[in-house]
Amino acid sequence: MNRVHIKTYGCQMNERDSEAVAAMLRARGYRIVPSEDDCDILLLNTCSVRDAAEQKAIGKAGYAAARKRREPDFVLGILGCMAQNRGADLLERLPDVDLIVGTQKFHRVPDYLDNLRAAREAGIPIAEAIVETGSEEGSQNTIRDHMEGPGRRVCAFVSIQQGCDMNCTFCIVPRTRGDERSRPMEDIVRECEELAGRGVREVTLLGQIVTSYGRRDHPREAGASPFVQLLERVHEIPGIERIRFTSPHPRGFRRDLTEAFSRLPKLGEHVHLPVQSGSDSILRAMNRPYSRERYLEIVRMLKAAQPAMAFSTDIIVGFPGETDEDFERTRTLCEEVDYDMAYVFKYSVRTGTPAATMPGQVPEAVRERRNQALLEVLRAGSLRRSTSLVGAVQEVLVEGPDKTGMRLSGRTRANRAVVFEGPGRLAGSLAAVAITDASVSTLYGSLVPAGAGLQSAACPASL
Ligand code: 5AD
Repeated sequence: MNRVHIKTYGCQMNERDSEAVAAMLRARGYRIVPSEDDCDILLLNTCSVRDAAEQKAIGKAGYAAARKRREPDFVLGILGCMAQNRGADLLERLPDVDLIVGTQKFHRVPDYLDNLRAAREAGIPIAEAIVETGSEEGSQNTIRDHMEGPGRRVCAFVSIQQGCDMNCTFCIVPRTRGDERSRPMEDIVRECEELAGRGVREVTLLGQIVTSYGRRDHPREAGASPFVQLLERVHEIPGIERIRFTSPHPRGFRRDLTEAFSRLPKLGEHVHLPVQSGSDSILRAMNRPYSRERYLEIVRMLKAAQPAMAFSTDIIVGFPGETDEDFERTRTLCEEVDYDMAYVFKYSVRTGTPAATMPGQVPEAVRERRNQALLEVLRAGSLRRSTSLVGAVQEVLVEGPDKTGMRLSGRTRANRAVVFEGPGRLAGSLAAVAITDASVSTLYGSLVPAGAGLQSAACPASL
């Protein structure tokens, strides 16, 4: 009765939280199983950022609850953002749930499950669900355990900060994740060092607003924000070849950070820079404290630091009050930046946020039309950008076999997926791959034999 399956919805932070819960449960003797059909305990780690994400998890929980009625010992838990956002109210829709645990109490999950199991084994009937959605001092420091899995892991997520104080008017995150809290820099550096020792070559530093990292705990030093100081520290760790981070806020992109991209080669040539809208009046209504022009200036500064810089972004279409002209500004901004990739979201009303009650809510049909129009622009841009790489040699961090298991997959410095043929032992190493073909999101290529690698490709004089 100790087989646990964790199903994760939403962002990388949720994936990281699930992984940490899994590691804690394993340490207590639970088994983490890959299939929900074979589990005794099903934990749904949920997302609240859009209504669709909540509905998916509620649907799944309803389905699992039916199993619970057949098998009374089956345990069903809802964790994370939706648990935090809705708390005990979830029991009205889902009366059979055993456990509701919010975002600051993940580390308590093993205790709660132990208690449930002990009660079951003693034959004590459990009348009420456990609901735990309080805040907890220091909870940002509890997501630190990683799973020791079979095989070598090349990329890992590292949580550096939790919560957000920006109050974008569309966003539920301040409510689901709480106030901004940062982990101590030493703890993060130690975690990255341990990961490097276990074969990890790429770390992605995670937080809701990573560019604000440590702003209350560390002073700026020689013009460098605490976030840039952290990047410098992680950059020094031998074995770590690449450092990525998500999500930053444009507000945090001052010169110290844009220049870090020319100073710190492990940062590669990719930035995920959420813009949300290309219209100044919509940005104001969203409480995003930058203008279209300031955003484009950051893009120019980053392109100056790294001419090959690739950008990805998050965009919301159909925010309340968005006119055709506002949308047109978003469209032209996309063309101007020339994104590699973008996540486009139709605005979703989040109860309790300021935008939910703003006038000028945009009809679904219009939101859908703008969504499709933008996706088309972005798709064409992505294809153009990937096709432009055909014929080039790229430095690829090899992650392991691709989906089919027949070839290898990895990513370029600009975070493009690459699929190519090669021996499995290359996992975890940097390989030179000559790009021969491209689709919207993936590059295909062939391995450049060692010795004829990047250096000779870049220095024809040495051939
Ligand atoms: N509706 C649609 N998209 C949203 N996002 C956040 N809140 C909403 C909402 N209410 C998007 C933003 C954010 C990403 C994680 O989700 O683009 O950057």
